[in-house]
Amino acid sequence: MLQTMKAAYIGFGGMGQQIANLVRTVLKPGEEIYFDDSLVKAGKPGAHPFNAYLHDEFADCAFFIGLAYKQPAAKRRILHELLDKGRTVPSLVHPTAHVDPSARLADGVVIYPLCVIDMNVSIEAGTVIHNNVTVSHDSSIGECCFLSPGVTLCGRVTLGAESFVGAGALFANDLIIAHNAVIGMGTVVTRSIETAGSSLIGNPMRVLEKALNF
Ligand SMILES: CC(C)(COP(=O)(O)OP(=O)(O)OC[C@H]1O[C@@H](n2cnc3c(N)ncnc32)[C@H](O)[C@@H]1OP(=O)(O)O)[C@@H](O)C(=O)NCCC(=O)NCCS
Repeated sequence: MLQTMKAAYIGFGGMGQQIANLVRTVLKPGEEIYFDDSLVKAGKPGAHPFNAYLHDEFADCAFFIGLAYKQPAAKRRILHELLDKGRTVPSLVHPTAHVDPSARLADGVVIYPLCVIDMNVSIEAGTVIHNNVTVSHDSSIGECCFLSPGVTLCGRVTLGAESFVGAGALFANDLIIAHNAVIGMGTVVTRSIETAGSSLIGNPMRVLEKALNF
């Protein structure tokens, strides 16, 4: 069945190409199409206008959203448009990642190589977990987050939807971080954050008054 899967990439810039690389490794699609205006302009076979992804002629595709991490709200909107229409939005786990059988991955979650997704973790739809990330036991990650390479969440961390976490950030146990957080690379997150859209950097951690230039 997988050999005949038709993969449809929504956005085919840098992120879309990375996702396609994983899709080719893991799911080996029989056919690929692209929703990307610049590929249409370049005359690439299989390219369609960006906004055409909901057309009925593509209903048999498996969809992968390749928007960059700076566009979580747009990604979430597209994801829900697809799911509301009953489209297939598979999750994707690289074979070198360890995902405990008790972990729950929702539609469209992407797990890059060498990640560890520990027991009782839940990851909501559309979240991307980049290379070599550890999500420890009983943690929950909201929709359409992006965790950069080498991030570590200790146990029972809750990360709100549409948050960005820069490379190598560390989270202590039992924290709750409100949605739309921007957490700079290398931040050591030591306490919970209740305000949505907070920008955090450094060790010791600082909450910035002015949002990071993200
Ligand atoms: C969030 C991020 C983009 C912000 O970086 P930025 O654009 O330089 O941020 P700003 O220009 O708004 O910086 C504001 C201030 O915070 C400092 N700062 C920014 N990020 C910092 C960090 N992670 N740690 C410590 N200080 C940081 C800047 O040096 C600057 O200080 P100044 O005002 O004294 O000059 C960056 O920290 C980050 O995480 N980048 C992502 C890297 C990554 O993980 N990529 C992986 C993608 S696969």
